[in-house]
Amino acid sequence: MTDNSTGSPGAAPGGQIPVSPDNPCPFLRGLVANGYVGGHDVPLTKIAETIDRASGEHGAGAMKVWMETYGVASIANGNPLKSMISGAVLDQLRGGPLDKLGAGSRILNVDAQVQEDEITRLASFGQDCKDPSGGTERGLTAKEIDTYMAANLKRAGDAARWYYPILMKGEWPVLLKIMGKGEGDARYLSVAEVKTLFVERRFPDRIVARLPKP
Ligand code: HEM
Repeated sequence: MTDNSTGSPGAAPGGQIPVSPDNPCPFLRGLVANGYVGGHDVPLTKIAETIDRASGEHGAGAMKVWMETYGVASIANGNPLKSMISGAVLDQLRGGPLDKLGAGSRILNVDAQVQEDEITRLASFGQDCKDPSGGTERGLTAKEIDTYMAANLKRAGDAARWYYPILMKGEWPVLLKIMGKGEGDARYLSVAEVKTLFVERRFPDRIVARLPKP
């Protein structure tokens, strides 16, 4: 069997905090690794506030992100009341209500090791996009992300549950909203930046600039 994974699950590149393999969310893994939120019990308000800042939204837009994030984080461990009192448990998300059990990208395996061939597969759904700061790079627009998510569901076959498409709307499309480059239909998610997020657990500088000092 060939090992096409990259890095060990908790391995922390220079100065980073190790992240539990039971945290399967690439965005939260980045926030934990860089010290923006803790890796275990995190108050829902802290998660909502941090993601709100990362989104760069203001006014009503920011309020919407805050409330949606709070809602998602409250159900993530299957006990909303407990999560509202003691926070979401970010190192116990694997196997929880939001875990699609392999019906997603499969870029992270169950041990949170990055599967390079799955990043290549992601890229195959995209095209060369015009980078607003010059040049072109491989990326996925909203439409291509929809096609990608549909393919992921299809690949999962009978294992896909009816509500997975609802969960998925809060993952790749939201990542596009936060980290995308360009505007309107041309807005795209850079494959290189997705790779950096999954493999190195690092955000692009323009996102780091929106976040408070860890
Ligand atoms: C801006 C906020 C967020 C973004 C952009 C985001 C993005 C993503 C993405 C792109 C995936 C990967 C899906 C795949 O591999 O196909 C994912 C998975 C996941 N996220 Fe997040 N996420 C966010 C917030 C959250 C929050 C607040 C929680 C819970 C506290 C959460 C829990 C999860 C879980 C459990 C998975 C694994 C789903 C699976 O593998 O089936 N995420 N997220």
